[in-house]
Amino acid sequence: MDRSPAIWKFAKKMNHSLVLLSLLILLINISVIFVEATRNVHIVYLGMNKYADPARTKKSHHKMLSTLLGSKEAAQRSILYSYRHGFSGFAARLTQYEAESIADFPEVIQVFPNRIHKLHTTRSWDFIGIHHSSPKNALPDNMGKGTIIGVIDSGVWPESESFNDEGMDPIPSQWKGICQEGEQFNSTNCNKKLIGARWFIKGLQEQIERPINTTGSEDYLSARDGIGHGTHTASTAAGYFVRGANYGGLAEGLARGGAPLAHLAIYKVCWGIDSGGCTDADLLKAFDKAIHDGVDILSVSVGNEIPLYSYVDHRDSIAMGSFHAVAKGITVVCSGGNDGPISGTIENTAPWLITVAATTIDRAFPTSITLGNNQTFWGQSIDIGKHKPEFSALTYSERIALDSTDDFAKDCESGSLNATLAAGRIVLCFSKTDLQNIESASTSVKEAGGIGVIYAQFHEDGLGSCDIPCVKVDYEVGTHILSYIRKSRSPIAKLSSPNTAIGKWISPRVASFSSRGPSSITPAVLKPDIAAPGVDILAAYPSVGIQHSHSYALLSGTSMACPHVAGVAALIKSVHHNWSPAAIRSALVTTASQTGTDGASITAQGLTSKEADPFDIGGGHINPNKALDPGLIFNITREDYIHYLCTLGYSSASITGLANTKISCTSDQKRASGLGLNLPSITIPDLKMAAALTVTRTMTNVGHINSVYKAVIRAPPGVKIKVEPQILRFNLSTQNLSFRATFFSTQKVQGDYKFGSLTWTDGYHLVRCPIAIRVIRYQSYAHV
Ligand SMILES: *[C@@H]1O[C@H](CO)[C@@H](O)[C@H](O)[C@H]1NC(C)=O
Ligand SMILES: *[C@@H]1O[C@H](CO)[C@@H](O)[C@H](O)[C@H]1NC(C)=O
Ligand SMILES: *[C@@H]1O[C@H](CO)[C@@H](O)[C@H](O)[C@H]1NC(C)=O
Ligand SMILES: *[C@@H]1O[C@H](CO)[C@@H](O)[C@H](O)[C@H]1NC(C)=O
Ligand SMILES: *[C@@H]1O[C@H](CO)[C@@H](O)[C@H](O)[C@H]1NC(C)=O
Ligand SMILES: *[C@@H]1O[C@H](CO)[C@@H](O)[C@H](O)[C@H]1NC(C)=O
Ligand SMILES: *[C@@H]1O[C@H](CO)[C@@H](O)[C@H](O)[C@H]1NC(C)=O
Repeated sequence: MDRSPAIWKFAKKMNHSLVLLSLLILLINISVIFVEATRNVHIVYLGMNKYADPARTKKSHHKMLSTLLGSKEAAQRSILYSYRHGFSGFAARLTQYEAESIADFPEVIQVFPNRIHKLHTTRSWDFIGIHHSSPKNALPDNMGKGTIIGVIDSGVWPESESFNDEGMDPIPSQWKGICQEGEQFNSTNCNKKLIGARWFIKGLQEQIERPINTTGSEDYLSARDGIGHGTHTASTAAGYFVRGANYGGLAEGLARGGAPLAHLAIYKVCWGIDSGGCTDADLLKAFDKAIHDGVDILSVSVGNEIPLYSYVDHRDSIAMGSFHAVAKGITVVCSGGNDGPISGTIENTAPWLITVAATTIDRAFPTSITLGNNQTFWGQSIDIGKHKPEFSALTYSERIALDSTDDFAKDCESGSLNATLAAGRIVLCFSKTDLQNIESASTSVKEAGGIGVIYAQFHEDGLGSCDIPCVKVDYEVGTHILSYIRKSRSPIAKLSSPNTAIGKWISPRVASFSSRGPSSITPAVLKPDIAAPGVDILAAYPSVGIQHSHSYALLSGTSMACPHVAGVAALIKSVHHNWSPAAIRSALVTTASQTGTDGASITAQGLTSKEADPFDIGGGHINPNKALDPGLIFNITREDYIHYLCTLGYSSASITGLANTKISCTSDQKRASGLGLNLPSITIPDLKMAAALTVTRTMTNVGHINSVYKAVIRAPPGVKIKVEPQILRFNLSTQNLSFRATFFSTQKVQGDYKFGSLTWTDGYHLVRCPIAIRVIRYQSYAHV
C-alpha cells in the first residue's frame, strides 16, 4: 500500500529537505503496520498549553477528539495519553483518514505516527555474566544530597543493594511524583533512595497490536525492570555500587561518577516485551510526568539513528520533551549513540541536551593463554568459572574452513567451520569487521563442536560473555599464536580463568562504538559535549531467578556513559542549586580533561587509534571535582535557544509549536548566524577562505568576585584567531563579560575539520572552550 501522500500531509508544516530524509525511515516502520491495522497510535501535537489548569487542557483534548470521532465514548476509547504539563497534545488511536482530518484542525501543529526507539547499549543483553555479592559498607560522603535524578529507561530492580536507602535524607519537599503499582511492584518497593516509579506502555502496546502478556516474557507489567538496562543506568547515576561492589575493586575515577545521596525517580518506557523498545508516545509522557514530578536531572540512554529529524519536528520526541524540561530548569543528559567510529553519527544533538560519548576505564580482566611451547600470552575475558586448567588441541579457523576458497572462516562466521575438524579444539579467529564479535564467534565455534575461542580483534571495547571459554587478544598476540600453530605439528593451548586488574590510572580511550561528531543536522553545535566511562561498566542488575539480591553486571555503551554524567550533574546541582542546565553543561565541558592522570593524551579508537578530538569527546573527559568550581560559565536562556532556532530558518509557527509561547522570528534573527549561541565551544563548519568571521561569547563569573582572566589561544592549524579583549576583569558590579573571537583562514585549500582551543585562566581556573573549524574554499563552494 502506498501511503506516502498521507505522510507528506502530516509533514505539511516542516522543512522539506528534512522530510525527504525522515520519510525513508517512516515508510520502513509503518509499511508493516498499515497492512493489517486500521487504527494506529498517532501523536497529535498542539504546542502551547492554552490553560493553566492541566485538567482543563485534558478536557480540551477529549473535546477535540469527540468532535473528530463523533462521540465522547469513541474519544475515550481512542485516547492513550493526554500531555498537559510541559506542553499540550495527546496520543490517540486514529485511522489514516482520522489522522489526516485532525491534522487540518487549526489548533493542531503536527500529527505523527508513534515510532520505536532503541536503548543505547552495545550487545547489552549478552553482556550479563558477573553475579557476586556486594558487601554492605559505610555510606559515601555527602554527594548529590537533596537532588532528584529521573531515569527514563527500562525500569528498576528495587531490591538491589544499590537502592538501599540507609542514611538517605527524607524525600525532598519538591517531589510530587508517585510510586505506581503494577506486576511485582508495590509502594513498599519505593523508599528514600527510590522515591518514585512510573511506567508507560500504552504506546508500545498499540504497536504490538495484541494484549500484553508478560507470562513467559522476562518483563513485568510495572516499573520492575526485566531487561536490566534501567537498573544498571539508575545505579550508575545514583546507586552505591561505586563503593559497594567488590569486583576486584573499582577505580577511583569511576567512584567519582555517581551521586550516592541523590534520590532516584524511575520512568519506565523501554520494554523487553516482543521485540521491545521505547515509543515516542511513552517517552513524551515520561518527560511530561517528570517535569510535573519535580526532578532536577534527567538521564536518558535512548535514541535514534541518523538521519536525524529537525528539532522542531516533533518526531524527535527526545529533543521536544527535553526542550520543555530544560526550560523548567531540568538538566537533561543523553547518550550519543553507539554508531561509531564513523564520523557524523552522533545522535541526541539538540543544543539544550548534554550529549555523552563513552570511554574505557583503567580496569582489565587479564586472562593468560599458555601454548604448548610454554610461551604465555595475555588476553582479556569476563568468563568466570568456565575455563579448564588443562591443555587442549588448538587450531586456526582458516585451517578448518568448510570451503577453503572463501574468507568467512577467518573470523569464524556461523557455518563456516568444518565440525569434524573443530571438534574438541580451541579455535583462533581473526576479526575482519565490526560485524562479527567475540560472542558470535564463540557461538559458531561451539556449533561446530569447538571448546574454546581465542579471538583476535583490532579494537577491544567491551568484553562479551560467551558460551564456551573465550579470550580476546589484539592482532599482535593473535599473530604470535598463529605462528606457533603454523610451526607446531600438534599445537595445544591452555586458557586460564580471568583475573581483575586495576591499572595505575591510565588515560581513557574513546570506545570505537561511541558515535562521533560533527552533528549531521546542526554542525555548528559541538556534539558530543563530553565523554565519560562506558566500557565494561559494573553496576546493579536484576537478580532474576537467583535468591540473593546482590547482582551486578558488566555492560558497555554510551548508555552506560550517560548516567555517569547525570550523576555528576546532580553533584553540581546539589552544590549550586540555582545553576541553569546550560551552566551545568558549561561547567562540565570547560573543565573536562584532555589527558589521563598519567599525563598522556586521550586517544580515540576507530579502525586505528588516534588522539581524541572534540568530535570524539566534546570538551574532554569528565572531571567532576573541577566541574564543581569552573570559575566562569557560558549561560544560555530559553530565549537564546528560541533565537537560535530562528537562525536555523525554522518557521515561527514550528518554533511556536515547540516553545509553548507565541514566537515570531524577526528578520534580524533569521539573518543572524547560529554561531552566536552562547555555547561553551566554538564550531565553524564553513569558514570561508580569506574572509574573517567573528563569534561573540558572554561569560558569567561564578568564582571569586574580583577575578582577572587572560585568554590563552591555541589556534587550529591554518587558522588565525584574534580575541578581544584579551583580559577580562570581573568585579562586584560586573559579573558578566563578553569577548569576540575573530577567525581567519591562512589555508589555500579546502580542508577537513581542524581543532584548537581558547582557554581563559585566572591562574587557578582553566576555562577551556574547544574549537573546531573547517575551511571552505569559496570557489568550489560556489559551484555547488
Ligand atoms: C508489597 O509486596 C510485598 C512483597 O512483594 C508484600 O510483602 C506486601 O504485602 C505488598 N504490599 C502491599 C501493600 O501490597
Ligand atoms: C498468557 O500466556 C500464558 C502462556 O504463555 C497463558 O497460559 C495465559 O493464559 C496468558 N494470559 C492471558 C491473560 O492471555
Ligand atoms: C614447559 O615447562 C615444563 C615445566 O616448567 C617443562 O617440564 C617442559 O619440558 C617445558 N616444555 C617445553 C616445550 O619447553
Ligand atoms: C571436514 O573435514 C574432513 C577431514 O578433512 C573431511 O573428510 C570432510 O569431508 C569435511 N567435511 C566437509 C563437510 O567438508
Ligand atoms: C543563567 O541563566 C538562568 C536563566 O536562564 C539564570 O536563572 C541563572 O541564574 C543564570 N546563571 C547561572 C550560573 O546559572
Ligand atoms: C567594575 O568593572 C567595571 C568595568 O571594568 C568598571 O566600570 C567598574 O567601575 C568596576 N566596579 C568596581 C566596583 O570596581
Ligand atoms: C549577569 O550576572 C548576574 C550575576 O551573576 C546574573 O544574575 C545575571 O543573570 C547575568 N546577566 C546575564 C545577561 O547573563
